[in-house]
Amino acid sequence: MKTTGIARAHTNIALIKYWGKKDKALFLPMNSSLSLTLEAFYTDTKITLDKTLEKDEFYLNNVLQQEAEIQKISKFLDLFRIPAKETRFARIESYNFVPTAAGLASSASAFAALAGAMHQAMGWDLSRSELSTYARRGSGSSTRSLFGGFVEWNQGTNSEDSMAIPIDDASWDIGMLIVVVNGAAKKISSRVGMEQTVATSPFYPAWVESAKTDLEEIKIAIQEKNFTRMGEIAEFNGMKMHATMLASQPPFCYFEPDSLIAQQQVVYLREVLGIPAYYTMDAGPNIKVLCKASDLDKVRDHFEQYFASEKLITSHPGEAMRTLTEEEWQE
Ligand code: ADP
Ligand code: DP6
Ligand code: CO
Repeated sequence: MKTTGIARAHTNIALIKYWGKKDKALFLPMNSSLSLTLEAFYTDTKITLDKTLEKDEFYLNNVLQQEAEIQKISKFLDLFRIPAKETRFARIESYNFVPTAAGLASSASAFAALAGAMHQAMGWDLSRSELSTYARRGSGSSTRSLFGGFVEWNQGTNSEDSMAIPIDDASWDIGMLIVVVNGAAKKISSRVGMEQTVATSPFYPAWVESAKTDLEEIKIAIQEKNFTRMGEIAEFNGMKMHATMLASQPPFCYFEPDSLIAQQQVVYLREVLGIPAYYTMDAGPNIKVLCKASDLDKVRDHFEQYFASEKLITSHPGEAMRTLTEEEWQE
């Protein structure tokens, strides 16, 4: 007997970052975070539970993955299978419409899509926030990709209440330009980078403290639709996260020379051209420029002076995770 589930989830970019776990096994974070889901980048995943399979199989972009990757997925699917006494193995087929492991949040869309597909395959009926606690255990940032728009991952106190909460659907004048400085896979994964930071950076306690204040303040800015205030807090928060890495032992840094050029151009946009724009960066060299959707064309045009057109991707806010029909999957 075969049972399937198919889901699409979009990536999200944190404006208040998640950087550090207090419980590595359960993916409980040191601080709450808040993100914007992006329309432009997503993952589609299909799961087929099949009695005839003798082990899990995982194809990413039509390529059968290595054992270590399959083990990660098997462990994740077991979170659903074990409590339900489901003994079938699965074939997982996934397509990333986002560069994989490049600091563009592929792990976020990946595990949110996997959670959505598995939830459907199992015939469960969890709320989105409950399902986000499952996604979380694949990759922390994927907690937030269950919802669209602005989403908080409330750190909670335990595995059941560390979950995503929708904050605002971002159906106002919000956009993002992604500057792909380098689309190749990074050398230090988010997981390893944050672990090293928590263990060695003397700046880390200050990060945790100030992320709390940033989160409270950005929630007010979002509620008031105060774009400037939101951007200022996001830019400040992102750079503080990177500062913790510079102070790690050994120090490490995701910036590349072009990352700095892009940052300078964001400052130029707002200070010289009067276009409100703010930058943030994740565990990779790419720059995400938070701007108004109505300014996206102007912001993109400006960046074309410095970056090749195919390195510039504009996005509006994205939707929540959703299941796909077999017809939508085949398209
Ligand atoms: P990113 O910045 O892209 O989120 P991470 O280091 O956090 O980078 O995560 C990348 C990892 O996420 C990959 O090495 C892989 O293990 C996992 N991943 C990415 N895409 C998928 C997918 N579609 N299905 C399952 N796992 C995926
Ligand atoms: C810098 O969610 O990729 O993008 O939980 O270990 O899988 P794991 O890490 P991941 O870390 C994301 C870090 C970040 C900030 C953020 O998205 O909040
Ligand atoms: Co990631």
